[in-house]
Amino acid sequence: MAADNREPVTVIGLGAMGSALARAFLAKGHPTTVWNRSPNKADDLVSQGALRATTVADAMSAGRLIVVCVLDYRAMREIINSTDDTAADRVIVNLTSGTPADARATAAWAGERGMSYLDGAIMAIPPMIGSEEALIFYGGPQEVYETHAETLRSVAGGGTYLGPDAGLPSLYDVALLGLMWTTWTGFMQATALLASEEVPAEDFLPYAQTWFEHVISPEIPTLAGQVDTGAYPDNESTLGMQAVAIAHLVHASRTQGVDAALPEFLHARAEQAIRRGHADDGFGAVFEVLRNPTAQ
Ligand SMILES: NC(=O)c1ccc[n+]([C@@H]2O[C@H](COP(=O)([O-])OP(=O)(O)OC[C@H]3O[C@@H](n4cnc5c(N)ncnc54)[C@H](OP(=O)(O)O)[C@@H]3O)[C@@H](O)[C@H]2O)c1
Repeated sequence: MAADNREPVTVIGLGAMGSALARAFLAKGHPTTVWNRSPNKADDLVSQGALRATTVADAMSAGRLIVVCVLDYRAMREIINSTDDTAADRVIVNLTSGTPADARATAAWAGERGMSYLDGAIMAIPPMIGSEEALIFYGGPQEVYETHAETLRSVAGGGTYLGPDAGLPSLYDVALLGLMWTTWTGFMQATALLASEEVPAEDFLPYAQTWFEHVISPEIPTLAGQVDTGAYPDNESTLGMQAVAIAHLVHASRTQGVDAALPEFLHARAEQAIRRGHADDGFGAVFEVLRNPTAQ
C-alpha cells in the first residue's frame, strides 16, 4: 500500500500500550482515530495528527479496522457494547491481555454481533512498539489476518499468525510469562541462598550466566524433542540421581533459613515422576507429571 494510501485505523484504549500503538500507526502514515475513556489521554496523539473520536460510536464508524487495547476483556466488551454501531464489516483486533478462555469467549461474542475478530497477544513493552523486534501473536480467521497483516506490521515487525484459534495467542503469552517468572524466580532463589552467607549477587553472576549459556539453554531443544516424542532417555543424569541432588537443595535452603518452597516443589515433582516409573529417565520426564498431575 502506498504511503499516502495507508489503511485507516481506530485505536480504542490509550493507556501506556494503546498510546504506543496509536503513535506507531501514526508514524507509519495510517490515518488514526483514537478514543479513550478518560479523553485527556488523547491530547498528545491529537497534537501528533490523530483524529479524536468523542464517542465510541464515532470511533467505531471511523474505519473498518478497530484495534482495542484496554485493561481486560471485560472492559473491552463493555466499551464495544456501549454502542449499537457494531456493523458487520468491522474487524476487531483485540490486543488486550487475558486467558485463552477469555479470547475464545470474546471471539464468539464478536461473531454473534457479526464482527470479524482477531485476538492478539503483545510480547513487548511500549517503547518497543513500532520496531522490527516487537512480537505480537495473532489468532483468528486467516483471511482476516492476511487482509490486515501489512497494517498490523506497523506496530510490530514480528507479527506472527498462529492459526484460526483465537485462544492460542493468549496461551503462548501465558506460557512465555510462566517461563520468564519461573526462570527469574530460580535466579532469585539462588541469590537468596548465597545472600544467607553474605555472598553478593554480583560475585555469583558470572557463574549463573555461564550456567545459563552452557548448561540450561543448550538442553532446551533436547527437552522439546523429548516432550514431542514422549520418550525421555538420559543415561548420564537420571531423574533418580537428580532427585537426590534436589533434596540437598531443599535441606540447604531450610538450614540457611531461606524460602524452601520452590526446592520442595521441584523435589516433590521429581519424586512423583519416579513413582510413575521414570527413575531411569532424564529430567524431561517431569513433563509427564506437570502435564497430567492426577494420573497414577
Ligand atoms: N504496558 C505493557 O508493558 C504491556 C505489555 C504487553 C501487554 N500489555 C497489555 O496491554 C493492555 C493495556 O495495558 P496498558 O499498559 O496500556 O495499561 P494502562 O496504562 O493501565 O491502561 C489501561 C487502559 O484501559 C482503560 N480501561 C480500564 N478499565 C476500563 C473500563 N472499565 N472501561 C474503559 N476503559 C478502561 C484505561 O482507560 P482510562 O485511561 O480511562 O483509565 C486505559 O486506556 C493490558 O491488557 C496489558 O496487559 C501491556
